[in-house]
Amino acid sequence: MERFDAIVIGAGAAGMFCAALAGQAGCRVLLLDNGKKPGRKILMSGGGRCNFTNLYVEPAAYLSQNPHFCKSALARYTQWDFIDLVGKHGIAWHEKTLGQLFCDDSAQQIVDMLVAECEKGNVTLRLRSEVLSVERNEEGYTLQLNGASVQAAKLVIASGGLSMPGLGASPFGYKVAEQFGLKVLPTRAGLVPFTLHKPLLEQLQTLSGVSVPSVITAEDGTVFRENLLFTHRGLSGPAILQISSYWQPGEFVSINLLPECELASFLDQQRDVHPNQSLKNTLAMQLPKRLVECLQQLGQIPDVTLKQLNAREQTTLVDTLTCWRVQPNGTEGYRTAEVTLGGVDTNELSSRTMEARNVPGLYFIGEVMDVTGWLGGYNFQWAWSSAAACAQAL
Ligand code: FDA
Repeated sequence: MERFDAIVIGAGAAGMFCAALAGQAGCRVLLLDNGKKPGRKILMSGGGRCNFTNLYVEPAAYLSQNPHFCKSALARYTQWDFIDLVGKHGIAWHEKTLGQLFCDDSAQQIVDMLVAECEKGNVTLRLRSEVLSVERNEEGYTLQLNGASVQAAKLVIASGGLSMPGLGASPFGYKVAEQFGLKVLPTRAGLVPFTLHKPLLEQLQTLSGVSVPSVITAEDGTVFRENLLFTHRGLSGPAILQISSYWQPGEFVSINLLPECELASFLDQQRDVHPNQSLKNTLAMQLPKRLVECLQQLGQIPDVTLKQLNAREQTTLVDTLTCWRVQPNGTEGYRTAEVTLGGVDTNELSSRTMEARNVPGLYFIGEVMDVTGWLGGYNFQWAWSSAAACAQAL
């Protein structure tokens, strides 16, 4: 039986980073993954350019039953630490929007960087490794793999969440948690497009591909100001992905399609100058033409000139465009979700080390636990920060 100081399961963002840091600190680390290559989600992320962190990382950007849990790890390994590391590897990056940092070239550079860091720490990386069983005894943890047994005093679970099963996602981490008596909070898809009920979906079909700036509000009062995209399945775009993490089935979201325009004053001004201009053409100065035409066909925009639009109709119109209440049918689910909400209950873990409070030597890092960030590099930063906190303790 091969022996290591620590075994890390999952060669994704958190697992690779944790293994590298622990290895560099002198730990003999085995890093296992069931896939053919490491960091598959990293390669897919940020449209192939990996949004690896965010300039404005703060605990408020994370959802967790215990909102304080993430604070310690985020404060001890910050976005600036990761930006330094990226710089040391000569990876050029840029800020796209809202503090989101992307590689100039390719997400492959982040994977290559993590592989190089693992090599620097003499980490043993085994791909295509299926973990058949995990047992705990006096010496630590014994794992049966396909064809071998391995043992270590410490075991780190970095197997991620359930989103994108096609990229190797599995419930493995939750099963290990349950095996050792840890509570797992219910999981659901996060950062995911909404699907719509039939009549509305059909009515909006012609808008597929149209994107508009928006302000979107969930029933709990959470607000995001980002772009909304109409799709052939429903609604997507950053505004929808963000609010999806705060949405529960059956709830409504409220959408302002004109966040940058004071619509009533705009219509009044236009009416003074061009009273005979059609309402449709006036609104097309502020909204995509296809959206205006679709709303007119649906009877939401009266077919009148500005001087014909009476005060009551104007109030209704402003309400429709700035406070559009939509009740999604559901979400596209784990198939397209970027993250999984819920997971291993953080009350079971130490926020300093990520170790299970009642199971010495067992650690959980990254997305497998109940910490989920906003869209925009926050989830990778949680992977790096939780991995660094854990690595210090190995
Ligand atoms: P991650 O999922 O990265 O890694 C888990 C690893 O464990 C995988 O390699 C998997 O193969 C392995 N594994 C699972 N079960 C196993 C088993 N039974 N045995 C062995 N190995 C097993 N975030 C962000 O901040 N910026 C971004 O740009 C994006 N973009 C993005 C795009 C897409 C398409 C997705 C799906 C997700 C994102 N994300 C993101 C989210 C981000 O990818 C995610 O939060 C992190 O990858 C989580 O890192 P982990 O290491 O915890 O899990």
